[in-house]
Amino acid sequence: MIRSKIGGIGYYVPETAVTNDDLAQVMDTSDEWIQERTGIRERRYGLKHKETTSSMGARAAEIAIERAGISKEDVDFIIFATLSPDYYFPGCGVLLQRELGITNMEAGALDIRNQCSGFVYGLSIADQFVRSGMYKNVLLVGAEMHSMGLDYSTRGRNVTVIFGDGAGAVVVQPDDREDSGILTTKLHSDGTYAEKLAFINPGAHGGYHFDKMDIEYDFGYDKSIKYGEIFITDKMLKDGQIFPNMEGQFVFKLAVQKFPEVIKEALDEVGLETSDINMLIPHQANLRISQFVQRRLGLSDDQVWNNIQKYGNTTAASIPIALCEAWEAGKIKDGDLVCLAAFGSGFTWGSALIRW
Ligand code: ACO
Repeated sequence: MIRSKIGGIGYYVPETAVTNDDLAQVMDTSDEWIQERTGIRERRYGLKHKETTSSMGARAAEIAIERAGISKEDVDFIIFATLSPDYYFPGCGVLLQRELGITNMEAGALDIRNQCSGFVYGLSIADQFVRSGMYKNVLLVGAEMHSMGLDYSTRGRNVTVIFGDGAGAVVVQPDDREDSGILTTKLHSDGTYAEKLAFINPGAHGGYHFDKMDIEYDFGYDKSIKYGEIFITDKMLKDGQIFPNMEGQFVFKLAVQKFPEVIKEALDEVGLETSDINMLIPHQANLRISQFVQRRLGLSDDQVWNNIQKYGNTTAASIPIALCEAWEAGKIKDGDLVCLAAFGSGFTWGSALIRW
């Protein structure tokens, strides 16, 4: 059976570090509050007009491609995961292709919209393509430029302090070794609570879901307005309904339940235990969530990699950045069992087990 492996990995974070104290200059928050609730000390912000989600993704991809021992022209498929795309359409996949100068028109580009679990979903897709023999070098990128779309007033403080910018990339290739590579991936979703963690406007919803789902939260939609004025309204702008919305405690409770569940599900499938995990790379949602998951699974500190303290939550980029950092630090070696796990907006969640 052909298995796939991560043949090359890279990450890029922008230079500018924004501390909690920096944020406290523009909104009513404090270093103490942010560190206590999230573990975050600082995050990186991309350079406005100089960097974008796709350009940061390209920087990470260049490193991954080089480490995979291939050239850009060898990439035969691109998967781009982000919730903060450069454009509403087209997606970042083709923009990254252009940025990298990949002129191989045989290559396809797919954008996926799975937020915090985008990288795990993307890895599963890449794995299926490689296993089936359809592609040999799938470039998977997770990148975010959150800083362009956050509310920097006190109104947005519960969300804004959490997020940061960055990018991570891997090249997924066939693995010719025995019993190694991607052992399994598990993907799940439940749209019941879609609006609990969402970026609703601008969008083509026209208020549809609010009535249908009996959603009381005011997303700034106004029924009296005409076609053409619906996409973005004055009320949305005035009320700040053009920013991400999150019910933090609701998300927290589900996350700490779903992370352990989906990790155990993957381990059970391949007949392994939590004690077999050499390195767990959880999506960097919140340090408190990672610590809760670690305790629930009975893992030691050296079995879990966290870097949210430095980068904040970089959504689709957080797993590949953390994976790459752990690997560069020599904490992931050949033969190690690496577990990736994510939970996020949708809600969507998933895990992957890799024999490195
Ligand atoms: N600074 C200071 N005070 C704040 C801030 C802030 N940045 N944000 C919110 N507050 C205030 C609130 O206004 C509220 O004040 P009030 O009591 O006067 O009304 C108080 O702090 C408590 O607010 P809560 O939202 O209840 O705070 P909570 O203890 O739940 O912490 C947090 C918020 C950190 C978001 C928490 O709910 C959490 O970690 N949730 C998980 C969500 C998460 O991790 N999301 C990441 C993105 S999604 C993902 O990746 C899975």
